[in-house]
Amino acid sequence: MLDYMLGGKDHFAADRAAADRALALAPELPMMARESRKFLNRAVRFLVGAGIRQFVDIGCGLPTQSPVHEVAQAAAPDARVVYVDNDPLVVNHAQALLTHTARTAAIHADLREPDELLAHPRLTDLIDLGRPVGVVLVGVLGVIPEDDVARSVVDRLRRAVVPGSHLVMTQAISDVRPEVTEQLSALYQDEQIVRGSRRRNVRTRAEVETYFEGLELAEPGIVHVPAWRPDPGEPSVDPRDVWAIAGVGRKP
Ligand SMILES: C[S@@+](CC[C@H](N)C(=O)[O-])C[C@H]1O[C@@H](n2cnc3c(N)ncnc32)[C@H](O)[C@@H]1O
Repeated sequence: MLDYMLGGKDHFAADRAAADRALALAPELPMMARESRKFLNRAVRFLVGAGIRQFVDIGCGLPTQSPVHEVAQAAAPDARVVYVDNDPLVVNHAQALLTHTARTAAIHADLREPDELLAHPRLTDLIDLGRPVGVVLVGVLGVIPEDDVARSVVDRLRRAVVPGSHLVMTQAISDVRPEVTEQLSALYQDEQIVRGSRRRNVRTRAEVETYFEGLELAEPGIVHVPAWRPDPGEPSVDPRDVWAIAGVGRKP
């Protein structure tokens, strides 16, 4: 769905149909998807600047359109990236896209089981968990419907990585356009994009901010996605129009 919204070529008819229904509710979604990609690009460059050379991108979607490995390896050719998704179609497609790419892998694992995810043999082949790692959770925590599970997954990942590691997180928030986020939430559950009990899959700013507890926030803290360390000439949109927030935290 994201690839379709970003104008890419890697999507299926079912993705397009579901995305069109979401777009009817929220025409701003492609703009938000672009801003999310730009944020990810800036955050990865920031992490490379901080010395991070290994990344785990969880809930990665298709690694197209400035994916983590392209951005990281442009700055640090030795950077290693493991993409993780629980959608077998996404993982198969990602593996095909990465066939000729060095120091990358795509694995099938579930964010809900962070210990198993981090112990996956193809992950530990590439990623040395004894060294700092950049954990990317962009646009994925919101698809876990249970608040306690989303929170405990972040806690578990933070505890599992060594000091100097960074967590990169974004999530849609319900405070800005509550009626739209509520309708989208219902649509995503109907489409089974979000599986699980029928609860809101979006959270308030205050709830998302708690995910960063125990981490040292990089400047400028937790802000609307386009406002996180914009490149020169950015942001090109009003950050308040993007109802998702972002932050990067370092494990002390
Ligand atoms: C909204 S997309 C975000 C994709 C990407 N991170 C980005 O920002 O472009 C959410 C992705 O998370 C994946 N996902 C959903 N639940 C997951 C889980 N429990 N474990 C791992 N991946 C999951 C979906 O298959 C989908 O590819």
